Amino acid sequence: MNIILLGPPGAGKGTQARRLVEGRDMVQLSTGDMLREARTSGTEMGKIVADVMDRGELVTDEIVIGLIREKLTEGGATGGYIFDGFPRTLAQADALGTLLSELGETLDAAVEIRVQDEDLVSRISARSTCGNCGEVYNDETKPIPADGKCTTCGGTEFKRREDDNAESLKTRLLAYYKQTSPLLGYYHVKGLLRRVDGMKEIDEVSAEIEAALDA
Ligand code: AP5
Ligand code: ZN
Repeated sequence: MNIILLGPPGAGKGTQARRLVEGRDMVQLSTGDMLREARTSGTEMGKIVADVMDRGELVTDEIVIGLIREKLTEGGATGGYIFDGFPRTLAQADALGTLLSELGETLDAAVEIRVQDEDLVSRISARSTCGNCGEVYNDETKPIPADGKCTTCGGTEFKRREDDNAESLKTRLLAYYKQTSPLLGYYHVKGLLRRVDGMKEIDEVSAEIEAALDA
């Protein structure tokens, strides 16, 4: 099964993708994670994308499609792929369709995680991530354990993201509504759009996603 998780910054795409990986043996492909890795590796591409990401704007279609193409041609996902944060433009959606069909694969669902804007701001300002395994925490709703160790890997280093500030979040939200939200209609007409209430607790959102995928 191949699925897309759609939703604004802070909706819970990464959080839910990690749960699907555990439960369904799927592979998570997060273009945000790939780009963050590229910027820390100090490559030419990493330098180009760092400024764009910190401003909260979208990186070019060419770069992100290239990253996804590379991962898909590597293969190895027996349970299928979860696309997290990709596609984000109509051009990326078309490219994904082409790449999957070249591999003889299809897309099974595009799941929209709906959360109101005010909650996104508070979620993002309270987020931190395990520096070792990428587990996502939240000061309010999913705090780092009192012993300071990541529940998944035992790591003790936690990071805040460079683009998790009010100004860049404004730009990220604008980019979502202008460039990404047209994908809701795109997948709706293909009969692939599923909607879940991302305002519920993390476990409840997971249950809604599971139900939407099994429907
Ligand atoms: P990316 O890394 O994709 O970031 P994003 O879309 O802004 O999404 P986030 O990672 O911020 O949020 P999320 O939905 O994963 O939420 P999370 O689970 O962490 O992209 C970053 C940048 O890279 C872009 O701005 C762009 O520059 C570039 N980029 C990436 N992909 C691109 C593409 N395809 N094309 C062009 N450019 C691209 O949860 C957030 C917080 O809320 C956490 O603290 C979590 O614990 C908490 N939380 C989660 N669920 C719940 C819940 N149900 N209730 C309460 N709290 C919750
Ligand atoms: Zn960890």
